[in-house]
Amino acid sequence: MIKYVSRIFINNLLDQIDIVYLIKNKIKLKKKGKNFFGICPFHLEKNPSFVVNSEKQLYHCFGCGVHGNIIDFIMYYDNLSFLESIELLSNMFSIPIIDNNSNTLKKVSKKNNIYYKLIFSLSTFYTNALFNISGKKAYKYLLNRGFNLYIIKYFAIGFSPLYWTNKILNNTKTIKILYEKLGILRINEKNNNFYDIFYNRIIFPIKNIKGFVVGFGGRVLKNKPPKYLNSSENDIFHKSSELYGLYETKKENNIIKKILIVEGYIDVISLFQFNIKYAVAILGTSITNKHMKKLFSITNKIIYCYDGDKSGIDAQWKSLKMSLPYLINGKEVKFMILPNKEDPDSLIRKEGQMFFEKRINNSLSFSKFFFKQLFLKNLFTSCEEKTYFIHKALSYIKLIPNYLFRINLIQQLGEKIGIINFLDIYNPIKYKKKTIINNNFKKTTIRILLSLLIQYPKLIKFVPKLKFFKSSNIDGLFFFIKFVNFYKNKNTTTVKILEQYRGTKLKKILEILVTWNHMIPDNKIEKFFINLIKKLKINILENRIEYLISLDRREGLNYKKKQELWSLNKILIQKK
Ligand code: UTP
Ligand code: MN
Repeated sequence: MIKYVSRIFINNLLDQIDIVYLIKNKIKLKKKGKNFFGICPFHLEKNPSFVVNSEKQLYHCFGCGVHGNIIDFIMYYDNLSFLESIELLSNMFSIPIIDNNSNTLKKVSKKNNIYYKLIFSLSTFYTNALFNISGKKAYKYLLNRGFNLYIIKYFAIGFSPLYWTNKILNNTKTIKILYEKLGILRINEKNNNFYDIFYNRIIFPIKNIKGFVVGFGGRVLKNKPPKYLNSSENDIFHKSSELYGLYETKKENNIIKKILIVEGYIDVISLFQFNIKYAVAILGTSITNKHMKKLFSITNKIIYCYDGDKSGIDAQWKSLKMSLPYLINGKEVKFMILPNKEDPDSLIRKEGQMFFEKRINNSLSFSKFFFKQLFLKNLFTSCEEKTYFIHKALSYIKLIPNYLFRINLIQQLGEKIGIINFLDIYNPIKYKKKTIINNNFKKTTIRILLSLLIQYPKLIKFVPKLKFFKSSNIDGLFFFIKFVNFYKNKNTTTVKILEQYRGTKLKKILEILVTWNHMIPDNKIEKFFINLIKKLKINILENRIEYLISLDRREGLNYKKKQELWSLNKILIQKK
């Protein structure tokens, strides 16, 4: 996860990524004049009021008032933080995060580069070892389990032979510590000696979403526990955010309609071998928030396909709970319940691709699985138990952001527990509406000028040096002058200006100004702007004159101020 990005990098991102192209990939857009229209992904609507403006590189919804640039879009659509969105965008468009301002980042990535290189060379070693004499047993084991050579190579499955373990353990302490950092050596707490966790194991290299090997999983050949071990966590390997098979899934599909989440490496590999190339495995843990965000950023449908036993169902229930906050309109989770004692690997080998795909298509919807499990888990005979049950059910439903879905679930809950009109009695959790843009914001000269400058930054060259009197009480003048000075000679764009103010109080105001439609034809804007600047200059003068006159009344003017008043009046007459 990146910790810092510079303004230069953000501007570079805004320059290189076209907002229309980005959003078109996620929702349907239709061109109308200069703009693109679509159904807003952030609220429920029938008629498109979501507008993407390619000139300004901004989107805006007239229905719910959301607006922003590519970064905002990813943040809200994919439910990511600011930095995560930047990271996702830079990955999506292969724009490397190079930072001119941050030494720390450079240092970190340099260290990480060494890790990547070492782990990659280790991985190559393991892969080769599978195919020489030392790996014969392991290779045979894999063939016996039904894997073909193509798939073994595709997933770069390897083996860690005895002589290799001896070799790394015979190194100097410094090198052993490095191997420990890489995650493959550990220290035995009893005797303080290093040991190789992958000794005599089949190795599954784990790739991150970009395709770099970041860690390994290792399986014993004979069923002697622990059956599987993962390399320890380090700066580049975090079990809670990686998914085995994600890189391959991305590679194989342009559009990922759905992703199956399975429990084991072997399940992923078998599914791919049987041509189901959209499966990922969690690495011996439960699904995490990071997983959810990652998955829902590349697909709209997640299907939990865990082992067909009690612990599989328990894990599915846990995953359901984890998924609740991610169920926005358009995102969906489903549940595939396998027959008892089967896992995806064993089942697809018995039934083949076609039957397995049928099972995928028949997987349980969220609501079916939710109510089924809920009623299995909670038996109620008394009124008190029933009340408790309802509270429990609602506490889950409450976490779902999709408003309509929430209402429908509550309605169904009512039907299932035999309360008619439950929806009327229990007014579903209030929908938190995003603030609608305030169109009553007064149109002062300064605001119109600012609004034009933000929308057409090229106009900035027409702003002359403006005099700022301390006595001025023209709202926003000080900011306007500061703004102009900052952007003069900078050759900036609308989207960059708005991005600059992220996280500040001014952002909201600028966002309103950028939506003001001045109804001026393009070829008249310059003239309009120049006239308005003239008006502002007069305003400034008049304002100062008024001040001097009132000062004169209160305490009289000294010679200098009298001179000033006289000359200002003269200038004003000329200007008018
Ligand atoms: P399973 O025990 O279901 O193994 O563990 P499997 O996928 O069916 O593998 P085979 O068919 O027996 O070879 C599923 C996942 O749980 C983690 C691993 O990530 C494994 O892929 N696990 C399992 C461990 O981390 N440690 C273990 O001891 C067992
Ligand atoms: Mn298995």
